[in-house]
Order: sequence, then C-alpha cells, then structure tokens
Amino acid sequence: MRNFTEQSITEAALERFGTDCDPRLREVMTSFIRHLHDFVRETRITPDEWLKGIQFLTECGEFCDDKRQEFILLSDTLGVSMLVDAIENPGGPGITESTVLGPFFRENPPIVANGGDLAPGIAGKRVDIDCRVSSEDGAPIAGAQIDCWQSSPDGFYDSQMGDGEAHNLRGRLKSEKDGRFWFNTTLPASYPIPDDGPVGNLMRAMGRHCMRPGHLHFWVQAPGHRQVITPLFVRGDKYLESDVVFGVKDTLIVDFGTQQGPRQRVRYDFRLKKAA
Ligand SMILES: [Fe+2]
Repeated sequence: MRNFTEQSITEAALERFGTDCDPRLREVMTSFIRHLHDFVRETRITPDEWLKGIQFLTECGEFCDDKRQEFILLSDTLGVSMLVDAIENPGGPGITESTVLGPFFRENPPIVANGGDLAPGIAGKRVDIDCRVSSEDGAPIAGAQIDCWQSSPDGFYDSQMGDGEAHNLRGRLKSEKDGRFWFNTTLPASYPIPDDGPVGNLMRAMGRHCMRPGHLHFWVQAPGHRQVITPLFVRGDKYLESDVVFGVKDTLIVDFGTQQGPRQRVRYDFRLKKAA
C-alpha cells in the first residue's frame, strides 16, 4: 500500500503488525494508534505543534533520574494514574479504597516498632496514628507489613531535604495479633508536586495549580489478601477539592486535628479484600 490519505493511513498503520506479535500488545497498540490518529485529525495538529509535543516528552525524559520520575508526574496530573488504579482496584463494600503510589515511595525504609516515632527530630504538631488491619470479613490480620511515608509540616519529603539521602518521615511497621499498628508523627502538610520541570510548566500553561492536600501514605500487604496502597487525607485541607493528581476519596479523609489544636489521635481501619 502507498499513496496514503488523511483517512487511509490509519488502516495502513494497523495492517503492519506481524503474525508473531503478542496478542495483548496488538490489542493495546491497535487502540493506541487509532486514538492517536483520531486525536491528530480532530485537533488539526500542525508540524510545529507536533514537534513541540516531541520536545516536551524529550524534556520529561531528561528530567528523570533515580529520585525524579517526570513521566509518573505527567500520568498523575492528567488523571491517568488514578484511572488505571480505578480499573485495577474497583474496591467493594467495606474494602479500603486505593489511590496512587505517588513519586515519593522509597525502598527499604527504617523499621519502626509499634508506638515508635515516624518523624524523629521533626518539629511541628504531633499526631498519634492508631490503625487496625483486618480482612473483608472483619477478622484481624496479624503480621501485615505496613509502609508509611509523608511530608513534613513544611511540605517536604525526606528525599527533598538536605542531600536527600537520609530516611525520615517514613517507616515500616507490622500489625500485632489484634491487627493493630500505631505510631506517632507530625501533621503532614499540603505540598506541590515537583513543579520545576516540564510537567510544572504544563500545569501553569493550563492554568492549574500543582498542590496536593496534606496526607499520610500507607502500603498495606498481608498474605492471602490484595494489597492496599492509599493515603489518609487531612480533613479541612484547602486542596481536597482540587488535588492535582485526583487522588482524594471521601472514605480516606480523616480528622488529624489542626496545627493549633490539641494533640490528635487518628483512628483508621484498613480492610483488605481476600486474594482470589
Ligand atoms: Fe504524597
């Protein structure tokens, strides 16, 4: 085939798959090519605009290193990460809802004993976190592994402080026999996603802010159950309605108290679906 037109080039591109192409790859790429061609036709993209798009993606790649992942930020801010998560984790009655992992999770966090401090040496209002892990039928889960991580009261993660190497404001806990795990920490603050790169520039060009409401991340894993990755959000935060990554769900908003108020105990029960 040759002499392609604005219309016929799409079918031509779709006919180029070889017979040994993985079926799932064929399915995904067929849809991707169709939508991409329709997007170009619908918006009447000019060569200059297409080149600008390619330069934007190139810049995203150049911003990535072992601490910064610009493509995750792009996916998050366009709502795609939450869409993928919604398909993978549809939840169900009584099951703790999930949201995005975000870019600040780190491997091998410090081990924190129950009752320990997640934010040693960090000034600010303290809160007591008191949680329980249970199965969908309500049975407590002992020995669940829980990773927690959060921003400081100034809105920074440990990887954004000092040389970025020291671990703080994060830890790994285990649930006790009754499913409980507990620790104390500081009140997490709202913060901007890293906005000094191409994604931040895109948000500003779109007239959007880059803020996330204050939250504390949890990754709960237990044998025989589906894992839950989710944050708890600070009730009253002014960015709850406009989280830049679309991660807020009503069931995940809890009372952390205020910066000025008395020390607060945060209670939350994580309910995990049994693995199929
Ligand atoms: Fe976060």
